[in-house]
Amino acid sequence: MKKMKASISVLCAAVLAATCFASSAEAAKIGVSMPTQSLQRWNQDGANMKAMLEAAGHTVDLQYAGDNDIPTQVNQIENMIAGGDEVIVIAAIDGSALTEVLKGAKEKNIPVISYDRLIMNSDAVSYYATFDNTKVGQMQGQYIVDALKLADESVKGPFNIELFTGPTDDNNVNFFFPGAMSALQPYIDSGKLVVKSGQTTKEQVATLNWNLEEAQKRMENLISSNAYGPEDTPLHAVLTQNDALACGVVNALLATGYDNTNMPVITGQDCDKPAVKNIVRGYQSMSVFKDTRTLAAQVVKMVDAITKGEKVEVNDTTTYNNGTGVIPSYLCEPVAATKDNYKALLIDSGYYKADEL
Ligand code: GAL
Repeated sequence: MKKMKASISVLCAAVLAATCFASSAEAAKIGVSMPTQSLQRWNQDGANMKAMLEAAGHTVDLQYAGDNDIPTQVNQIENMIAGGDEVIVIAAIDGSALTEVLKGAKEKNIPVISYDRLIMNSDAVSYYATFDNTKVGQMQGQYIVDALKLADESVKGPFNIELFTGPTDDNNVNFFFPGAMSALQPYIDSGKLVVKSGQTTKEQVATLNWNLEEAQKRMENLISSNAYGPEDTPLHAVLTQNDALACGVVNALLATGYDNTNMPVITGQDCDKPAVKNIVRGYQSMSVFKDTRTLAAQVVKMVDAITKGEKVEVNDTTTYNNGTGVIPSYLCEPVAATKDNYKALLIDSGYYKADEL
């Protein structure tokens, strides 16, 4: 009996040691390059990643590139490479602007993880972690289809819609926009949805740097050139592909006399606090919740696996070709957030405190 107890405790110690070994990271210096602090999500992404990487024993070199300043980002990455960072995580401002600087990472064999947005035209990119970007767009488009009951044959329309997406240098836009249009295009083709401005291509509806004021200005112009207004030409929906754009569009519509009794269907993405407040007030219809904690945790797992020389977990090896080949990717799941489920999604999960909203 004694013998058995002893061998069990030896076994336990061995299991414990193995577990400890398996979960302790090889401490490394990790560079994290984020695009801007002017948008809430990137602050959360940076802070979450720093905290999780440090908890895993790593040293973190976290840099923000001013307000979406491309030369600053290039410089910061150059310094990370020169400064001996062992893995570099990058959320690119312009996905195609890092080809040159990343040659340095390749030469030094420093693995690069593309964060949220795919870095294009660089064979230095080892992995990509993001949300399912096509699905994000589909959720927004489908929300409009459902809210206007477009699939119902007894609902005749036509309904007026305008479209807003992000900058064309953000590769995510190449997935968000077609994703949304896959739901909306059949109804535009049939005439049930009408884009009165005629602006329907990605280039025509792009917004520099996902900038709120730019979106607001464009919406103001659309209002005046198409005579949209609560007492004028009806506007039934606005596809806006993130929350900053949605807030800009809401501002322009409020100034034209819309309120929460007649606001068009308006979509968003990120569940930024001002947008969630607008959802609660009835100004914005939905947002797509991309839990930055989930993405950061996934990237930390990738970093850990890389530093330990283990296999990196990916779940997509076909979708994201950056021009040099397909980058092994991990896609997290986005969730649609509305007035009905935001409390469970955002407050009960601890993402926000109730008084922040
Ligand atoms: C996208 C990102 C979105 C949104 C936007 C603006 O690339 O996936 O979540 O934040 O940039 O920064």
